[in-house]
Amino acid sequence: MKNLKFYIKKAKTEQFAIGQFNVSTFEQVKGIVAAAKNLNAPIILGTSEGEAKFMGLEEAVAMRDALRKKYNLPIFLNLDHGKSFEAVRDAMAAGYDMVCFDGSKLSLEENIKISKKVKSHAFLKGVVVEGEIGRFGTDASKVYQGEFQITEEFLTKPEDAQTYFGKTNVDVLAVSIGNFHGVNVGGAAPKLQLDRLREIAGLVDVPFVLHGGSGTPEEDVKTAILLGVVKVNINTETRMAFTNTLRAQLQANPDEITPYKYLQQSVAEVQKVIEEKIRLFGSENKA
Ligand code: G3H
Ligand code: ZN
Repeated sequence: MKNLKFYIKKAKTEQFAIGQFNVSTFEQVKGIVAAAKNLNAPIILGTSEGEAKFMGLEEAVAMRDALRKKYNLPIFLNLDHGKSFEAVRDAMAAGYDMVCFDGSKLSLEENIKISKKVKSHAFLKGVVVEGEIGRFGTDASKVYQGEFQITEEFLTKPEDAQTYFGKTNVDVLAVSIGNFHGVNVGGAAPKLQLDRLREIAGLVDVPFVLHGGSGTPEEDVKTAILLGVVKVNINTETRMAFTNTLRAQLQANPDEITPYKYLQQSVAEVQKVIEEKIRLFGSENKA
């Protein structure tokens, strides 16, 4: 099976994006993999530090291996938003295909310093490294409540992206262009600043990553892919599909105690969401 570097290159050349779908339970994975199989798409399963802690790094790797083999599909694993060198190092040791070092809250110098260390460690293992420049990890609830506005200080400055990439040579770069984690609840929908992405792409020749994919206008996502985004991260929409369906199932069937029965609909709803995303990202039949 071809590795993740191959699929990133393919995505860049053929102008599609690989979906990174975050998970913390096997039932979410089931829905995601069913969608990928149905549409013959490459996918990345993402685990944040918290999600990875719940699932177990080794367990996630074993699950990826079993599913890859069973379905003969390019299924990859990314440690998402790793906040320290140690966090991403442990994921690499366990067998992750990719790590995202999130130094976005650090100074540019400190972010560069640790990213370089991550990159040289990853190079020896053939692991893909994602760097982050600018801040987008903001909880959407703060946006809804008016506590947070996306201001200039959070957005990726094109010259910082250039400096960061020049010094770290990361494989893919996550940028802050109006995206944030979460969906539109109170009229504060993520809206991409595509001109900013255009400007960054003019300065830095690297495949880009879009975080906070949930709730982002479809047209914005499509244009971002044409401008060089090769991976879009989705978490909130999957969580909503899974959890809201589960809640409804349990409320409608209060005496049901059999997990494989009351979880089935949640798996099916996750599959639906992921199939929509795969089609939107253009990754159908790219496995
Ligand atoms: O890293 C994970 C993603 O950026 C998820 O963002 O919850 O808005 O889909 P989302
Ligand atoms: Zn993210």
